[in-house]
Amino acid sequence: MCGIVAYIGKREAYPILIKGLSRLEYRGYDSAGVAMIDKKGDLNVYKRKGKVSELISFVKDKDTTGNVGIGHTRWATHGEPNDVNSHPHYSQSKNLVMIHNGIIENYATIKEGLTKRGHTFLSQTDTEVLIHLIEDIQQHEGIKMGHAVQAALKQVIGAYALVVLDKNDPDTIVAAKKGSPMVIGIGSDDFFIASDASPIIEYTKNVVYLDDEQVAIIRRGQELKIRNLKDKEITPYVQKLTVELESIEKGGYDHFMLKEIYEQPRSVLDSMRGRLQADLGEVRMGGIVDHEKKFEKAKRILFIACGTSWHAALVAEYLFEEFARVPVEVEYASEFRYRNPVIYEDDIVIAISQSGETADTLAAVELAKSRGATVLGICNVVGSSIARATHGGSYTHAGPEIGVASTKAFTAQVTVLTLMALHMGKVRGTLTESRFRQLLYEMEAIPSKIEEVLKLNDKLREIAYTYKDSRNALYLGRGVSFPVALEGALKLKEISYIHAEGYPAAEMKHGPIALIDEEMPVFVIATKGANYEKVVSNIQEVKARKGKVTAVVTSGDKEVKAMADYVIEIPETDEFLVPLIAVIPLQLLSYHVAVMRGCNVDQPRNLAKSVTVE
Ligand code: F6R
Repeated sequence: MCGIVAYIGKREAYPILIKGLSRLEYRGYDSAGVAMIDKKGDLNVYKRKGKVSELISFVKDKDTTGNVGIGHTRWATHGEPNDVNSHPHYSQSKNLVMIHNGIIENYATIKEGLTKRGHTFLSQTDTEVLIHLIEDIQQHEGIKMGHAVQAALKQVIGAYALVVLDKNDPDTIVAAKKGSPMVIGIGSDDFFIASDASPIIEYTKNVVYLDDEQVAIIRRGQELKIRNLKDKEITPYVQKLTVELESIEKGGYDHFMLKEIYEQPRSVLDSMRGRLQADLGEVRMGGIVDHEKKFEKAKRILFIACGTSWHAALVAEYLFEEFARVPVEVEYASEFRYRNPVIYEDDIVIAISQSGETADTLAAVELAKSRGATVLGICNVVGSSIARATHGGSYTHAGPEIGVASTKAFTAQVTVLTLMALHMGKVRGTLTESRFRQLLYEMEAIPSKIEEVLKLNDKLREIAYTYKDSRNALYLGRGVSFPVALEGALKLKEISYIHAEGYPAAEMKHGPIALIDEEMPVFVIATKGANYEKVVSNIQEVKARKGKVTAVVTSGDKEVKAMADYVIEIPETDEFLVPLIAVIPLQLLSYHVAVMRGCNVDQPRNLAKSVTVE
């Protein structure tokens, strides 16, 4: 949550900051702001409630010159979204400005102390308190900015990725991080700092990921210096970025979400590449090789995740239990971390996170590690905090996901989880060789089947049109399709603001059936499989109460077609692999409904892509 970007070098900072903020806007869009120091030494700060585009209009006729600057896009935590609470924030003297992503938990106590010493605050933010503290320390102890930041951060409880700019020292910026991500790009004679690599990749591929409790002192034309909070000098570890520029641009699509839905044949393939070899009857998962024995012997698997990633974990529960005959528990990371969960040393804990930065999931990982479990990560963002905090795991290789609503990350997660479940089934001897091979071939065919489903886009747009004014929607599925129902409902509610619920189809009669009337759209996953007849009965129950049924069915289905208002035919596959295909039409439906309702599909209200607060 919140995106930060900064630049120091010889180029004009403002265009770099603005472009960077636009790319980071998925992290929050309550307000945006920039600060630059111009050639005369003036510090110009501009900030505005609303999106980056509003900031751009606001600064149109203002002085934006300068070769050093910082920028911020906000997801509000402390203080409502308004101009005053926007970042950057000033220190008491107004000589320092700071941008911050994270939460300073003990800000109220610090603020009280500073107020007693005569500090006055303009905003309700925790960030303003921290920059006042930094200046207070700097002035009272007569120390340099880097040391003042270190000293202030020792007093802080919470999370931060921050950058400080000093009007009186325009050749230096100081950055620090704990719990929130920060990457520093090293150009030929300049530096770029950002929450992720997207604002950096077009300038340099050489980057340093700052670790927790590290402070970077970045001086124009000099080498990057990093120290920890104990003042120990750290040698920067320079890595090469592998992301390409086109992967973070819309590439002709109206929205990132649509582009990402259409990327799924490719992203699913990329998530299987080098891992699945159907001809050889092999699944190779590099990141879990060292834990093979644990997989063989594990008594239990615990999945921890949030949101869509939690839905992927629910799919995995069915797959691991079916293929590997291992008991599985799926936990919301936010609940798990605040319980006193029973964790055994021979448990395998798997954390799933697209961003790899979700605060609750990261904290749950630390908790599981502290109890001695083997903790693996399934992350999309390479080098992210969860990927680094876990003992091993696998990247999903979906490529950057920028639309706030997760689409291709979900199918990539389910792909990797399926491969893991198959692999575990093989090493535990719980899958026969022929079933194992049959599933590998089915997996190999998934990308082309997704391709087929994408061809239904026009039909899905038509169905979306009939439901665009609905106030509620119900999604039903059984077995492995139940999590797909949850995911379909989440997609609709988060981008179109239509209230939607996902339910196991059989649970409908225990309550939700009371909601059904001719106004209620009901989306049912009714593909062929062990539960098919049961789902058909559930559809009849809905129809008997005049509900409007749209069913996702297996190509050629006749029975459901005869009773549903609309059917969406998807190619046949093994019933345990259905989620990978059945979720696609639900994503497209939600997308079209949201567009027709005039919603901001890529940046739904109140949401952010990377939830780095609890
Ligand atoms: C929904 C969505 C969120 C995320 C959740 C976890 O479309 O994107 O529910 O799935 O915030 O995020 P990650 O996977 O980054 O941990």
